[in-house]
Amino acid sequence: METGKVFISPSILDSDFGSLRKTIKDLDRCKVDRIHLDVMDGQFVPNITFGPSIISSIRDATSIPFEAHLMIERSERYIKNFVDAGSDIIIVHYEAGGDLMKTIKLIKEHEAKAGVAINPQTPFKAVERYLGIIDTVLVMSVHPGFGGQKFIPGALKKIRQARSIIDALEYGTLVSVDGGINLETGRLSVEAGADEIVAGSAIFKSGNIANAIKELKKIDKTDR
Ligand code: DX5
Ligand code: ZN
Repeated sequence: METGKVFISPSILDSDFGSLRKTIKDLDRCKVDRIHLDVMDGQFVPNITFGPSIISSIRDATSIPFEAHLMIERSERYIKNFVDAGSDIIIVHYEAGGDLMKTIKLIKEHEAKAGVAINPQTPFKAVERYLGIIDTVLVMSVHPGFGGQKFIPGALKKIRQARSIIDALEYGTLVSVDGGINLETGRLSVEAGADEIVAGSAIFKSGNIANAIKELKKIDKTDR
């Protein structure tokens, strides 16, 4: 991973689902690093979005890696479906029940990268034991379910905790932050140690997607 580079991963949750394919092509042109797909089941979170069939319908629109953020109960049941649909990274929630170690192994068996997400109320130490075997730890800076929420500053402490453990143990785990990310909170998160920022409404409600991404790309790790 480039030292100064911050990965930008737009979340399409607040985009116009009626022109999803065009959105993906736009993101491709903006050369973002990943595309963040928020999968919600109405059980784990009080909202329902889309499943594997939508992901496979946009897969050929770009070669940019898809990260599927599974906000669903018992995600182990659907790992194969999401990988077969074209997800490169599968992020499951620590809070989503089932055997997390088994789920991580299952993701890797399907040759996808594995990520674990933790909600604002979950202490960071709950996921420390997984850091050495996952590719991404996703620190939620909002309560999952909806875009456009306000950044919860408590996430910064967890990002710092993740950064110091990953550096001390020389893991290659990527620290990502998701929820209420804009130029200001993105900068704060990167200063705290984030490698990747997920932004939804700051991009799709900005009125100019390309420009919003261009601004976010100015955030650099040298600000640390
Ligand atoms: C929330 C999702 C986030 C959300 C980000 O449950 O996981 O990815 O879409 O949207 P903003 O950036 O608007 O908070
Ligand atoms: Zn998300």
